[in-house]
Amino acid sequence: MMDSHQKNERKNIGMEGKNWSDLWLNYKAGSSDNLAVEVRDFDQNDRVIKSAVSELKKAFADSESSFKVQIIKNEEVQKEGYKVEAVIGGSDGRTKEADTELVISASDVNGALYGTFQLIRSFMMGEDLSSVSISKAPSNPLRMMNHWDNMDGSIERGYSGRSFFFVNDDIIINDRTVDYARFMASIGINGVVINNVNVKWAATDLITTRFFDKLAELSDIFADYGIKLYLSLNFASPIELGGLDNCDPLNDQVIAWWKDKVKEVYDRLPNLGGFLVKADSEGRPGPFTYGRTQADGANMLGDVIAPYGGIIIWRCFVYNCTQDWRDTKTDRARAGYDYFKDLDGQYHDNVILQIKNGPMDFQIREPISPLIGGLTRTNQMLEVQIAQEYTGHQIDLCYLIPMFKEILGFKTYCQSENDTVADVVSGRAFGNKLAGMAAVINTGNDLNWTGNDLAAANLYGFGRLAYDTELSAEEIAREWVKLTFNLEKELEDKLVGMLLTSRETYEKYTSPLGIGWMVTPGDHYGPSVDGYEYSRWGTYHRADHLGIGVDRTDKGTGYAQQYYQPNADMYNDPKTCPEELVLFFHHIPYDWKLKSGQTLIQYIYDSHFEGYEEAKELQKSWKAFEGKVPQNVYNCVSHRFEMQVANAREWCDQVNSYFYRKSAVADEKGRQIF
Ligand code: GCU
Repeated sequence: MMDSHQKNERKNIGMEGKNWSDLWLNYKAGSSDNLAVEVRDFDQNDRVIKSAVSELKKAFADSESSFKVQIIKNEEVQKEGYKVEAVIGGSDGRTKEADTELVISASDVNGALYGTFQLIRSFMMGEDLSSVSISKAPSNPLRMMNHWDNMDGSIERGYSGRSFFFVNDDIIINDRTVDYARFMASIGINGVVINNVNVKWAATDLITTRFFDKLAELSDIFADYGIKLYLSLNFASPIELGGLDNCDPLNDQVIAWWKDKVKEVYDRLPNLGGFLVKADSEGRPGPFTYGRTQADGANMLGDVIAPYGGIIIWRCFVYNCTQDWRDTKTDRARAGYDYFKDLDGQYHDNVILQIKNGPMDFQIREPISPLIGGLTRTNQMLEVQIAQEYTGHQIDLCYLIPMFKEILGFKTYCQSENDTVADVVSGRAFGNKLAGMAAVINTGNDLNWTGNDLAAANLYGFGRLAYDTELSAEEIAREWVKLTFNLEKELEDKLVGMLLTSRETYEKYTSPLGIGWMVTPGDHYGPSVDGYEYSRWGTYHRADHLGIGVDRTDKGTGYAQQYYQPNADMYNDPKTCPEELVLFFHHIPYDWKLKSGQTLIQYIYDSHFEGYEEAKELQKSWKAFEGKVPQNVYNCVSHRFEMQVANAREWCDQVNSYFYRKSAVADEKGRQIF
């Protein structure tokens, strides 16, 4: 098979017209033919090794030092891991000190590529390469990006322009595709789902001859960077493509149809990683229609794809989205556990359940889904969202890595040790080989890829964290700032500080203490306190004139009991429930005293005023970056901060006015509430 390096030579694709940003791989222009790169024991012509060598030559183009880089195969290094070391005087012991030799060792080509990017990072961050010595192995086997791109070019929950994969029901392949793959590989991503989980219209045809040629080309580009292509699948394909009258996963005709289909797909796309499936969720078809379980659906597809080494990633975002708000017994938060827990142990080996971090839907603060670790005999992976659907649309600054760190560090108590979310989703807790993390991605075809230049910190951060869950949110922020902007120390610290506090700021001016929502329906930007209160989505805050919050205790919906002890008891009691989640688990009166001594109502007022002040502070802080970052970046981010301040003001006023009018309790500090 021809790799895309060769294809590019053949088609003579140049980067001349390129106008999109290089994100954190912002090398000085050019390519160095002087840089000596020696490849030992790996095949020099391997597509991934070729990518590694070409990347080194580009990254070190302006380097004056006479480095010699060796890429060496070493079976002792863990899968997809690497060692990067400086050997003074060269590994053969003959060269002089000036000729420091940099050795990248790995047992496989992906490890060699990740080691290459590690070396490039160290170089770009100005580290002393003559003493570099870094050893890493990935925390998670699967490190994936999920695009919610539609084939018409729109992006579900996209805040950075249109899709760079699709336009007018066709697939786009150009130089940008290659850059995208480079960026993803540079942060350790090894799987990409290119299309939206809501598979409709032309996207259903992605598994037909209509798209195989282009998909093969895309898959080749990804393969050059150690990335596997995945597709989201329409569970009703046997009906929509095959003309059958049903898609019952236990029906012989349906199974036979899938067998033929998957064979056809793998004949054309032998490197395909597998399929991602959203079934029985928000109107998507699934096994429930036929009285079958989620396991019946997932296992059928798993069995069909197994001969090709493919996997089925089955989402657990299944809930009743036609709830009556008067019904206080049904609790959307319970749904994932209720639908999937009893089937633990029944899912086949090449099936993995993908579970959103919280039981609701990517709110600014949610407890951890009790399904994670609740399942002990099932492959499972964590789904987070870096597309800022509920966290400010990449207008408001919201660096999400601190939140992801909290999620990963949560002790589930699923066993006496190795029981954190990081342990479970990495496969360490129960020894699963199929395990990992996925993010709903925040990219689009905007020239800066992420709409807000600062939102790229989440893109970079997710990949780095999925590869190495031990990294701190601050380390990741600092790396990203250094690589992207190369600022003087004081400004670097300032920007890192802005990133690190941004999530709390956003939380302060939006929905309080874990209750979530209160957003404009549909769009999910800006406040609408009762926007979802009386609709069918199961997302209620239950505020009345006396108090607010949802009783999810043993006296309420019983959701708290889905956790292991001692978490179940901790959440069940408002006195031991972590305060930042108290409204998620409890309906409490406005005069409830928080640990700070503030009443709940006063906390709501104070935090909202504070959040608004902090948003203004962020805007002010950014002024220091004028002339220090490229002018277009400065302007873009300034404009976003301006919008963030307006948004924060709107949230602050609407939330405070709403609760003042409900509770009739005045602000102790006498500030203006409408
Ligand atoms: C949210 C989001 C939808 C998305 C869904 C999902 O509900 O608003 O746009 O399709 O999550 O995760 O499937």
